[in-house]
Amino acid sequence: MLMDQKLLDLFQEQINKEFNSAYKYLGMAAYFQTTPFHGFATWMRHQTQEELEHGMKLFDYVHSRGHCVELLPIASTPTQYASAFEVFNGALAHEQFITRSINEMYRVALEAKDYAAQILLQWYIKEQVEEEKQVQEIIDQFEFAGDNMGNIIAIDHEAGKRRN
Ligand code: FEO
Repeated sequence: MLMDQKLLDLFQEQINKEFNSAYKYLGMAAYFQTTPFHGFATWMRHQTQEELEHGMKLFDYVHSRGHCVELLPIASTPTQYASAFEVFNGALAHEQFITRSINEMYRVALEAKDYAAQILLQWYIKEQVEEEKQVQEIIDQFEFAGDNMGNIIAIDHEAGKRRN
């Protein structure tokens, strides 16, 4: 069954937001590659891949509902930041923005009585809890570390163990 137009528009926009997210995290990875924090660079590269998967899942869903995706423009993104802390704070703000966006999609899916879309979006709602949590945990570690570079290097080392 075809989708409600308003909901379809939000899906098209969300595909773009997920690919923009991938680009944003790639910019963060680029920044970290110019610093000694190669663990954070690895973490950001994994995050980039994850965002591409989020985008592709929506891409496939739109097609499975009988529509064709629109591929909207990807914005340029920074590759320079003042500090690792600034990067992760930016990542958290971005994830909160994505959470609000997914929640709005769910609200419209309820309004449209689109049960299939609701089931898909429940996966994203759950995923956003994880997305925010994993960034928040690193911010909490930074706050605990303060200015102690040895502690910050340890956080970087731990972040570099990320495998998915
Ligand atoms: Fe696709 Fe980081 O949310």
